[in-house]
Amino acid sequence: MIQFPKIIQGGMGVGVSNWRLANAVSKLGQLGVVSGTALDALFVSRLADGDQGGHMRRGLDAFPFPEMARRIWQEYFVAGGKPVEAPYPLTPVHQRKDVRKAIELCMVSNFVEVFLARENHTNPVGINFLEKVQMPHMASVYGAMLAGVGYVLMGAGIPLHIPGVLDLLAAHHEVEYKLSVTGAPSTQDTQMHFNPADYAEGPLPLLHRPKFLAIVSSNTLATTILRRATGRVDGLVIESPTAGGHNAPPRGKLQLNENGEPVYGVRDQVNIAELRTLGVPFWLAGGYGSPEKVREALGQGAAGVQVGTAFAFSRESGLRGDLKDALLIHATTGTGEVFTDPLASPTGFPFKVALLDGSYSDPEVAAARTRVCDLGYLREPYNAPDGSIGYRCAAEPVANYVAKGGKVEETVGRKCLCNALLANVGHAQRRKNDVVEPALVTIGDDLNTVVQFLAPGQESYSAADVVASLLSKVAVEQEVEARPITLTA
Ligand SMILES: Cc1cc2nc3c(=O)[nH]c(=O)nc-3n(C[C@H](O)[C@H](O)[C@H](O)COP(=O)(O)O)c2cc1C
Repeated sequence: MIQFPKIIQGGMGVGVSNWRLANAVSKLGQLGVVSGTALDALFVSRLADGDQGGHMRRGLDAFPFPEMARRIWQEYFVAGGKPVEAPYPLTPVHQRKDVRKAIELCMVSNFVEVFLARENHTNPVGINFLEKVQMPHMASVYGAMLAGVGYVLMGAGIPLHIPGVLDLLAAHHEVEYKLSVTGAPSTQDTQMHFNPADYAEGPLPLLHRPKFLAIVSSNTLATTILRRATGRVDGLVIESPTAGGHNAPPRGKLQLNENGEPVYGVRDQVNIAELRTLGVPFWLAGGYGSPEKVREALGQGAAGVQVGTAFAFSRESGLRGDLKDALLIHATTGTGEVFTDPLASPTGFPFKVALLDGSYSDPEVAAARTRVCDLGYLREPYNAPDGSIGYRCAAEPVANYVAKGGKVEETVGRKCLCNALLANVGHAQRRKNDVVEPALVTIGDDLNTVVQFLAPGQESYSAADVVASLLSKVAVEQEVEARPITLTA
């Protein structure tokens, strides 16, 4: 018999839902989810900062292939941390056929994050990926599975192929994954391959196939994923456009309101009665971070809710302390503002941005930033004139993007989310002349409501405060059902 969590602490990349936050939530019997996005770059940055607390080292010591762990440690660990003004080392930028080091970094960093999130309790932990960031997928999922991840959650695209990949990887079999390449003819080979045997440097542990939850925004997508996925889909997270992070674009022609934000209409509303007929558990996300909304979701037949914004401000989250404090002050006075930016993300998806002076949301800061693309997670693979696969990002230097066949109008308003999101969690890249990459905080429309979790006289709250509050209006018998989470293999 399977009992599902009532609360999923949503994946929040890069590094906002880190191992510490997911550990705290899972320990309480709800589902803690680490973000798997850009974990390789984040991991290397933590090692360059001297591995404060020794947590990365503890995870590396548990990795099943010690030689691989040792190679990475030797290359990237800086005892005592790099000088503040020194740049972070760069990881190899992902491509269709990744170099070995890129794959090893994905395996190891995803292993360590999940290992640490699972420490000192026996409840499941999940990992979140964005379908759009395809190239690191297979090695990352495998690394997370080596650490015993219980759930894989994926949205920002239609992750039809991941369920089948999970089935095969659980048996350490070779997998392939079709890379979306703009303009590629159907005859072009765009498959990516990953064979665990090529990386096994010792005996292989027994693996379990994690549960797979697809994050979708409409009934149509829910039905499509259940019908066409290459393997079992164990449930759905239904995310509305008030949620933090990337949002699904509105259906139909894009219309903007007077502030320049996408307008969502009745066609974007989800029919919950229909969801109940699909035969899989579902969780509602986007503005469900209050006890009333949790009760409402359960009353509508949902297994529970997925919440991000409330957890992003908890003490355990990876969001930088100064950013948390500044936004909490805004929230306390009811003056926090969130803008659904239709242009910022190179993915082309609307992206929620907290307006904060001095951050990249500030037009002056954005205008002053020199474009550079050195992390490349959001690069779009495209069919180059010579038939090879090229890579471009609408936030890279404009001339480079245009030289790669990109349209100049596509570059307008784009922001380098890769560098900004690493800055959000304390690893801002340092450039020449003391230039520091700016932060750009993403958060849900619910920003101002997080004050509900602050006890009188307190300036911060914990993940446990959020969980206790969210469950406070759930009928006692339902709450007891929710813990612990029991999974049968
Ligand atoms: C800081 C932040 C980062 C997020 N990053 C991701 C992400 O990397 N992948 C993802 O699927 N969802 C992401 N989300 C969405 C959350 O997982 C969750 O679905 C959403 O926050 C729920 O709505 P709420 O913000 O109203 O609680 C992010 C949300 C926030 C607040």
